[in-house]
Amino acid sequence: MDYKAEIARVLSEFLPYEEAYSLLVPPKDIALGDICMPCFRLAKAWRKSPVAIAEELAGKIQKPPFVEEIKAVAGYLNFRYSSSNFASEVIGKVLEKGADYGRSDKGQGQAVCIDYSSINIAKPFHIGHLSTTVLGAALYRLYRALGYNAVGINHLGDWGTQFGKLIVAYHKWSNREDIERGGVRRLVEIYVKFHQEAELHPELDDEARDWFRRLEEGDSEAYALWQWFKEITLKDDLPIYERLGVRFDSFAGESFYNDKMQAVIDELEEKNLLVDSEGARIVELEGMAPCIIVKRDGATLYATRDLAAAFYRKQHYDFVKCLYVVAYQQNLHFKQWFSVVDRMGYDWAKQLEHVAFGMVSLEEGAMSTRKGNAVWLVDVLDKAVEKALAIIHEKSPHLANATDVAEMVGVGSVIFSALINNRIKDIEFKYDKILNFDGETCPYVQYTHARCLSVLGKAGEVDLSGADYSSLSDDVSKDIVRSLERYPALLLEAADKNEPSFITRHVVDLAKLYNKFYFDNKILSAPDGVREARLALTRAVATVIENGFAIIGIRLPDQM
Ligand code: ARG
Repeated sequence: MDYKAEIARVLSEFLPYEEAYSLLVPPKDIALGDICMPCFRLAKAWRKSPVAIAEELAGKIQKPPFVEEIKAVAGYLNFRYSSSNFASEVIGKVLEKGADYGRSDKGQGQAVCIDYSSINIAKPFHIGHLSTTVLGAALYRLYRALGYNAVGINHLGDWGTQFGKLIVAYHKWSNREDIERGGVRRLVEIYVKFHQEAELHPELDDEARDWFRRLEEGDSEAYALWQWFKEITLKDDLPIYERLGVRFDSFAGESFYNDKMQAVIDELEEKNLLVDSEGARIVELEGMAPCIIVKRDGATLYATRDLAAAFYRKQHYDFVKCLYVVAYQQNLHFKQWFSVVDRMGYDWAKQLEHVAFGMVSLEEGAMSTRKGNAVWLVDVLDKAVEKALAIIHEKSPHLANATDVAEMVGVGSVIFSALINNRIKDIEFKYDKILNFDGETCPYVQYTHARCLSVLGKAGEVDLSGADYSSLSDDVSKDIVRSLERYPALLLEAADKNEPSFITRHVVDLAKLYNKFYFDNKILSAPDGVREARLALTRAVATVIENGFAIIGIRLPDQM
């Protein structure tokens, strides 16, 4: 039963159901009740003070059987659920649905394209790609859990003049064997060397331009090299996605749109939106810099590709939303070309959304591909795992599969660091902070989950039908039940705001509550009925931690 909906139905005698439903929220203080309706927003229309409204309603409404008490307090109408009913209802539902608890079919038949990670060929997969990769993947799983047809797209940066430079560098300072041995790191090295050498020998730039022109013209040697650079890069990068549990449905990168841009340019011309600016073709926009579509030398740009890609995705997937999980540095870029789509007269421009996020700063300092001091994500993962292993050796020297657990803890902690706070916040990445077992951290949640499994394991087969849910009447137990109940609605809110951190935060709070519960209450040695209720609660907590972390993309060890 949906308690909130039931209460809204009871209130619908006095105000529209939808309005009542949207006003109902959890009270600030659990001592006041389980759900409340602030009456402030009704005051104007009702021509009464919120205090009077709350009191009037408290006197008039029919108390449904699952409600124990209705009370007006300072303009709030508070409802307290009969705790044993509420607990048995909520826990029963979590246990019945298991891994499906929280899932729905709300998005059935609707496509959501998600453009994330979108790394660059022959460039480092660096720490700056962490957020887009794990945020995008979490959104992908979240939308899937809500029944949407999520489409994960890695819009590879696989086109641009840099490939001319790389081909020159390859011919001058490398060879097939060298690259096969050194992989993408070696490609980056020779690319960096190109920039150093070109400062002294500017004619290298002419050679590079020439090679890029050949590539654009489809020259077979240039094309084969480019294709091979892509293979080398992906061969090194795909295992990182594997470790992070990240998947894509499409790797259609920038080059995929080479033959799809002209149609967009033609349409812009037809609609008289292109104007000449010193030989370049641009779209003028209100309140911001114009969007350049074609450069003076005839070359297309990043924005031109994004436009072509959006049209392709609309046609191919018929999305209801197309998300771009890209750092806030690119705010202007997205605002510009979204406006271009709008000016072309397509109302689906409003289905395009830039899901922006903050920067990661590491203890190691700044990073730039050209100078060659980028911090590679795989190095960060390895270091986190290594540190996790050291902590595990110290804390649990006898743990079986310590290396597997260290991988889950280390990689999980890195993912967690990008998904615990609102995405727009900058991240200050510190190994000791993310791997602390006692903070609001990944290992803390993993440890709590392992604790739940351990309690359940010790209990063995238990007949939960004998559970006495009225014993879950203390504040912490009630808080836990409320947190469990809130989870499905929270997933909807997280999707609505494209904010997976809501889920991470919820799971952390639930873990904290459970630990308090665990220290305050006997579980295995509790009297009959109480023991079963506490075990059922434990099972339900483990389930919601599992379901939440499955969306966030963090694995949970059985033992720690
Ligand atoms: N490859 C780009 C970068 O590393 C990100 C691409 C984002 N996606 C897009 N459709 N523009 O900055």
